[in-house]
Amino acid sequence: MTRSAVLCGLGAWVPPRVVTNDDLAARLDTSDEWIRTRTGIRQRHVISDGLGTADLAVEAGALALKSAGLSEVDYVVLATTTPDRLCPATGPEVATRLGLTGVPAFDVAAVCSGFLYGLQTGRALIAGEIAGTVLVVAAESFTTLVDPADRATSPIFGDGAGAVVLRAGEAAELGAVRAVNLHSDGSLAELITVAGGGARARAVGDTSPAHITMQGRATFAHAVKHMEEVTRRTLAQVGWDVAEVDHVVGHQANARILHALAKHLGLAEEQAVVHIEEVGNTAAASIPLALHHGATTGRIKPGDKVVLPAFGAGATWGAAALTWPALEV
Ligand code: ACO
Repeated sequence: MTRSAVLCGLGAWVPPRVVTNDDLAARLDTSDEWIRTRTGIRQRHVISDGLGTADLAVEAGALALKSAGLSEVDYVVLATTTPDRLCPATGPEVATRLGLTGVPAFDVAAVCSGFLYGLQTGRALIAGEIAGTVLVVAAESFTTLVDPADRATSPIFGDGAGAVVLRAGEAAELGAVRAVNLHSDGSLAELITVAGGGARARAVGDTSPAHITMQGRATFAHAVKHMEEVTRRTLAQVGWDVAEVDHVVGHQANARILHALAKHLGLAEEQAVVHIEEVGNTAAASIPLALHHGATTGRIKPGDKVVLPAFGAGATWGAAALTWPALEV
């Protein structure tokens, strides 16, 4: 039997503070109608002052551990682009606050593909017999990167966290992560970027642009093209015909991207799980948040064939395929 990583726990958490489209329209040149029709977003959750990414990650991580019925794991992987500090990584704090001091814990930064990069890391640790259990948390305080005066990015992003627990099992089990394909293209770095704050442009004084900029239209086209290609290849790898897929749970950047992707694949629009309406684009956290939404609303059922594509800044992209397990969520 091939040793595989099996998804055995799921948790999600969003901060309680809600910012509606009308709240944004009260201070920006935008409207609820524009945001809803162009993105599918109705509201987003935003962290309150004094909170950070670790606070979100700990909540989601604790729920995922509870869902898995575990109090210990061998590794903690935190997918985030919004660590609480540039140094050290946020993963160790998350592990310690979950009662896991001593466990190896680190951050993975792949922006909107971050959950898939974390999943692949956890999967490899298990397949390589380095770990028997891995907690993969994806958490973002993405609104902290947004210029509140920028109408192009303020409506898009939200804060939140999702987490899964992986355990060693067999490829034929429900929940076995059957395939993960990842890609990157650094020549597309300028599509979505926060130019300041890093080693090249340290945030000294207030001259560095530490806010996110996004070339929306170009990103949209790359997202649909790359997610379709990697989804098709991932399905071929696991031997599933596109027609067998029950749900596409993609990175929640824009409802129109998710619907376009379903259409390009020849699937019904309803097969795209769209959760962006309630939470906005939560970058790395968006796929586990959408999985949690799908599972807790009864839409994603044990045995369903699920494919998880993502595209985001970097550029990074990828897709994963699994059959949905029976989970306590
Ligand atoms: N309210 C009102 N009007 C607006 C707003 C707003 N909030 N924002 C832009 N507009 C205007 C523009 O000024 C433009 O006006 P013009 O035609 O007079 O010039 C018009 O609306 C259309 O602007 P576009 O940017 O072309 O709008 P588009 O339909 O492309 O939607 C969006 C923008 C939502 C950003 C879309 O392009 C998108 O979702 N892109 C993909 C984003 C993505 O996939 N990101 C990857 C993941 S995110 C990450 O990695 C961090």
